[in-house]
Amino acid sequence: AKIAFEPEKAKAISNMLTGVFFEDLNYAADGGLYAELIQNRDFEYHPRDKGFNDKNWNSMYAWTITGTSLQIDSVSPIHPNNPHYAVINATAAGATLSNSGFDGIALKKGEAYHFSMFTKLLDKQKLNLKIRLTSAKAGVIAQATLKIGAANWQKQAVTLTSTSDVADAKLELVIETPGRFAIDMVSLFPQSTFKNRKNGLRADLAETIAGIKPRFVRFPGGCLAHGDGIANIYKWKNSIGPLESRKPDRNLWGYHQTMGLGYFEYFQFCEDIGAAPVPVIAAGVPCQNSSTGGGGQQGGIPMSEMDAYIQDIIDLVEYANGDIKTKWGKKRAEAGHPKPFNLKYIGIGNEDQITEVFAERFAMIYKALSKAHPEITVIGTAGPFFEGSDYDAGWQIASNLHVPVIDEHYYQSPGWFINNQDFYDSYDRGKSKVYLGEYAASLPGGNKTNLETSLSEALYLTSLERNGDVVSMASYAPLIAKEGHTQWNPDLIYFNNTEVKPTIGYYVQQLYGQNGGDTYIPSTIVLSANQEAVKKRVACSMVKDAASGEITVKLVNLLPVAVNTTLDLNLKQQSFNATKTVLSGNPADKKVLHVSSNITLTSGQQLEIPAYSFTVIKFKPK
Ligand code: AHR
Repeated sequence: AKIAFEPEKAKAISNMLTGVFFEDLNYAADGGLYAELIQNRDFEYHPRDKGFNDKNWNSMYAWTITGTSLQIDSVSPIHPNNPHYAVINATAAGATLSNSGFDGIALKKGEAYHFSMFTKLLDKQKLNLKIRLTSAKAGVIAQATLKIGAANWQKQAVTLTSTSDVADAKLELVIETPGRFAIDMVSLFPQSTFKNRKNGLRADLAETIAGIKPRFVRFPGGCLAHGDGIANIYKWKNSIGPLESRKPDRNLWGYHQTMGLGYFEYFQFCEDIGAAPVPVIAAGVPCQNSSTGGGGQQGGIPMSEMDAYIQDIIDLVEYANGDIKTKWGKKRAEAGHPKPFNLKYIGIGNEDQITEVFAERFAMIYKALSKAHPEITVIGTAGPFFEGSDYDAGWQIASNLHVPVIDEHYYQSPGWFINNQDFYDSYDRGKSKVYLGEYAASLPGGNKTNLETSLSEALYLTSLERNGDVVSMASYAPLIAKEGHTQWNPDLIYFNNTEVKPTIGYYVQQLYGQNGGDTYIPSTIVLSANQEAVKKRVACSMVKDAASGEITVKLVNLLPVAVNTTLDLNLKQQSFNATKTVLSGNPADKKVLHVSSNITLTSGQQLEIPAYSFTVIKFKPK
């Protein structure tokens, strides 16, 4: 085949195409990206978190008491948003309260861990508490003693250094002198978090996400953002401020959200990785807006409460961008970030059922937000894409209101991605731009991925680059999933307490994220007559990045045979020093590594594109 590039037909495309979508699903936040090692640190787990019938999911979840008894109380808590705490009445020394973390606590030899807790003495007898990290295999790994002597809630902290590498540690609070006291917000945090942020993120996971070089991060959901009932709609104001004042909630994916990873931490993470924050706020309706979900209430937020709801969204812009003298800008400064977070996008709605209840509330929010903050680009929602869905109705609303961007979602088979590379070719360039907020290819029936599914995504992404004048942003979904706690498959990155396991799809995202551009250079693949049948399985795109001056050629071959090509670059310069990265293997492979090499690329270069491969060639013209 001959691939002829046409630099004279170059067009401007979005430079934001590759981003990530982080949803607190699959234990992505607590027990995942959020580096806290103590599970149920605030004693706020509740049977409703897991499902109304799971009585074990309660304030004592992950905690064990030996040698005495423990009660959960809620009189005079540290903060009304965090009403429960534990009361320990130890009549003899040696009573022990222990926490097993999230499937055990993983500790690294030589690393420091910050322990902290709030305590309150409930009788006159002051007491000593030994703080220990222990492992069945390694015994006591670290310990320190704290004195409990204050009659009001008092926060204490100590740093522990681990003497072993273990994955099965637990935290033990050993009562050395008898007494009665209350305890809450028991925390153990690695000193080393991503960019060493306080209340920060697990470094290896955050680095893996950062490795994609995402231009934006959408958060905190997905379904999590709009909840499964009005009461379960994610409220950003509950997720900021001192940890003990944040309001935990049931996670509709069947667990508990501490809100320890809240809006401040999301914004900070975006800044740390150079990505634009894209918060998603419910459009005044919960999931499918007529759901009978656990949140109880149905329909949309009552009209009488919509003004206050809209004000919350407007306040979010002030929190992110406002001067520190403003009410919400001040709170951002108090949290340690006086400078604005430079929020430019807000998503309103997620995959909603497009009903009147939705339409009315979406329009109210959209109009009020655009009026108050015309500088913010609002992203609407088209609902899920499938036969008979409300897709067109979602688009109609966006068109009528001139919503600048609309969020589309589709989870499909590799065959769908191969056969629909023309999906955006005929999109009306005068209408809303597209944010493909959720997509993934998976094998029919199994929700599994392999090289074939990943290559179908790589192939489809060439068509997104080609349509980068109408498709502004795209993010694979879901992003991360904890092994053993996965509610949705497939995911881009799997992890456990000690390992991070990117899928092949991750490397596809990374190759796109690291090799994006803002100009698309069209090309034609000229196949010989007998190659027509396989046309859809070979794709190519060329982009140029103005800032670096680099050009990237991406070539995908989903055929079982290699394809010999001639690259007609049609550039003035005839020869370039280039790097070539190739990801290839067998279609059923679950793991492949990409291999990079330096090559001399010439105009008219002969190139064999291996069977089942994704090739990225990058060079910089003089
Ligand atoms: O990505 C998983 C889920 O898929 C999201 O929460 C939802 O938006 C979609 O249905």
